[in-house]
Amino acid sequence: MKLNIAVLPGDGIGPEIMEQAMKAVRIVCKKYNHELTCTTALVGACAIGATGNPYPDETHECCMHSDAVLFGAIGSPEYDNNPAAKVRPEQGLLAMRKKLGLYANIRPVTTFPSLQHKSPLRADLVEGVDFMCIRELTGGLYFGRPQGRSEDGNIAYDTCVYSREEIARIVRLAYGYAVQRRKKLTVVDKANVLATSRLWREVAQCIEKEYPEVETEYMFVDNAAMRLIQWPGSFDVMVTENMFGDILTDEASVITGSLGMLPSASVGVHTSVFEPIHGSYPQAAGKNIANPLATILSAAMMFEYAFNLREEGSAIRAAVAASMASGIVTADISQNGKSYRTTEVGDWIAEEIARTKN
Ligand code: IPM
Ligand code: MG
Repeated sequence: MKLNIAVLPGDGIGPEIMEQAMKAVRIVCKKYNHELTCTTALVGACAIGATGNPYPDETHECCMHSDAVLFGAIGSPEYDNNPAAKVRPEQGLLAMRKKLGLYANIRPVTTFPSLQHKSPLRADLVEGVDFMCIRELTGGLYFGRPQGRSEDGNIAYDTCVYSREEIARIVRLAYGYAVQRRKKLTVVDKANVLATSRLWREVAQCIEKEYPEVETEYMFVDNAAMRLIQWPGSFDVMVTENMFGDILTDEASVITGSLGMLPSASVGVHTSVFEPIHGSYPQAAGKNIANPLATILSAAMMFEYAFNLREEGSAIRAAVAASMASGIVTADISQNGKSYRTTEVGDWIAEEIARTKN
């Protein structure tokens, strides 16, 4: 098969972790005889530096012409503490999501037995946790207008907007996963306070009738935040609006032991994007210490979701599991005090893929 991939490393640790993921991608393509074409493009702070635009047209064209996008991370401290900055790296990510129509962000939350000691939760709560958070990605507070400041600068506002169509398409997508899994869907909202949440609930209650085999549960977001640490095993598929999903998935990720572990797939109208859920971790940039596993697992999702190449995805997952079982991991998830560099982990995983028989 011909695989045409856009590679967007981004900022901070992005380039380092992307390099490791690409080692895995290349070796898988070689092993399974796929013809790989990769085009690297700029996004985030590095794109602002080079072009003034965090998501340049050239990068958008490259994504549009590719079969899948592998994305690293964006963000830079020089913008974070500078409220006056006119453009921000994050706007690049938001523009990419919007222009590619990526309305659904699929974040699987799975635990790894060898990581249980790193979880802030007791082992009996974490064991076997396996759920999927479906986060709406192109609406809500992130994109609603008006957004800004009053003329005197003393009042700021963001607007949360959702239409029936936007809600219906993501809720349907979530039911699609629930049907294939353990047949339980949790719709997370704040319907006791927010008008948009009441529309979410109304639309979800209509669609619920189309899926009688799925148990649907409605939960306020504050309760969901609590339940995630109290009883994470009670979730199967969770669907929620953009900002609630952003917050809840960071919380969910540490249950698995490290923020450095969780991959994601953003899907919608045009080319799908595969990206770790963590950020650009600028403090670690260039130090060869960042955990590349979330990006490598995002590459596995890319083979499975964008190309329907399940064996290829499994080969990557198996090599990641083997690296953890053998303790070939970065410091954030090491068990015995012995840890490896980012590049060593990437090399080991690529070699493991090459080594293993089909
Ligand atoms: C994420 C990130 C982004 C978001 C930031 C970098 C804009 O936190 O992908 O979860 O809030 O969506
Ligand atoms: Mg986030």
